[in-house]
Parts: sequence; structure tokens; C-alpha cells
Amino acid sequence: MEFRDAVLKRRMVRNFADQPVDPATIDRILELTRHAPSAGFTQGQSFLVVTRPELKKAVAETCEEHEYVQSGFAPFISKAPVLLIPCTSETAYHQRYQEADKVNEDGTEIVWPVPYWIMDIGCAVMIALLAAVNEGLVAAFAGSKDLDKLRSLLNIPAEVTPVGVIAFGYRAPDTPSPSLKRGRKPDEEYIHREHW
Ligand SMILES: Cc1cc2nc3c(=O)[nH]c(=O)nc-3n(C[C@H](O)[C@H](O)[C@H](O)COP(=O)(O)O)c2cc1C
Repeated sequence: MEFRDAVLKRRMVRNFADQPVDPATIDRILELTRHAPSAGFTQGQSFLVVTRPELKKAVAETCEEHEYVQSGFAPFISKAPVLLIPCTSETAYHQRYQEADKVNEDGTEIVWPVPYWIMDIGCAVMIALLAAVNEGLVAAFAGSKDLDKLRSLLNIPAEVTPVGVIAFGYRAPDTPSPSLKRGRKPDEEYIHREHW
């Protein structure tokens, strides 16, 4: 698929057909996410793959899936054939940026201009979403409301942050998010040339 087509075709699709996803397809998606950039090549990103029905249900509860269902969406998280949980380790970045090539001249850690550990997992998530389109799948990201519960369900170490849940599967008719009614903001508010 052309890159432009993949970008333009991607949508958060919150419903999936009752059709399994070949584990090899998910492996190919994950392989591409490994090529996401990371600050100092820290590679603080990681992904959990969840396919067991009872675990998917428990993960969906941390996203308060019942509230989506009450609002007219399908139970898209528990119903998805595959969930990926994108994770990031802030600790890994602090450790990396205490190495000789990254510390300030006085040996102290940099003052972080922005949390690169969040930036980096965002880059990897974007690759996963586009790779899904390229594989003929659809996907939807949902925030989890209870990260500690998610950690304990999936044995995620305390110092690792699961940033949410991405549900993957084959497309089924879905309910579009009411947020889309906002429309896309005009270019002049988005692109600032030379000066803001
Ligand atoms: C950081 C982030 C958090 C999001 N959280 C949720 C969420 O909790 N639930 C949900 O249904 N969609 C969530 N979305 C999806 C957005 O609603 C969606 O990307 C946006 O409405 C634009 O629609 P599109 O991605 O289909 O173009 C999130 C997206 C991002 C990037």
C-alpha cells in the first residue's frame, strides 16, 4: 500500500468482525514498531500482546468499556481479536541520559524539555496504527483509566507505564466518535510559517 493511502485510510475503528487475526500479522506490525525513533536510542518502548478472552475483558474494564457500550459503541476492546498495550519506561530514559555521552558538562542529567519517553511510545504507536492499515486491519486506541490495575493484571513492572490499549481486528460497521464533529482545524491554525 502507498504510504499516503495508509495515512489517509487510517481511522480509529471501534468495532471488529468475528474473524481471527493471524499471529504472524501482529508480529509483522510489531517488527515495524521496532523501527520507531527513540531519544538517545534508549528504546524505552515495549508492547504487550493480549489475546486471551478473559484477559481482554479485564483489560477492557480498566478502559471502562461499559461506558462506551452505554454510549452506543460496540464492546470493541473485549471483542477485538488482539490487544496491544504500548508501554514506556521513564526510568530507562533517566538511565540512558546519565551515560557519558548524554550528561551535561558537569555530569548532571539534562533538564528534559519534554518527556521523550511519551514522545517515543507515541512514535511507535503511530507505526503500529499505520502498519495495521497496511495489513488490511483496523485499530482503535483507548485510554485506560486504571493503570495500576492494568499493571497488576499483566504483571507490568511498577516503573513501566502502559499508555493505553490498542485494539486490532478486521473491520465491522462502527459508530464514529462524536469528537469527529469538531472537524479538522484550518491549516492557518495548524501550520505557522517562519513565526507563530
Ligand atoms: C492520545 C490519544 C488518546 C485517545 N483516547 C481515546 C479514548 O480513550 N477512547 C477513544 O475511543 N478514542 C481515543 N482516541 C482516539 C481519538 O478520539 C481519535 O484519534 C480522534 O477522534 C480522531 O479520529 P481518527 O483517529 O479516527 O482520525 C485517542 C487518541 C489519542 C491520540
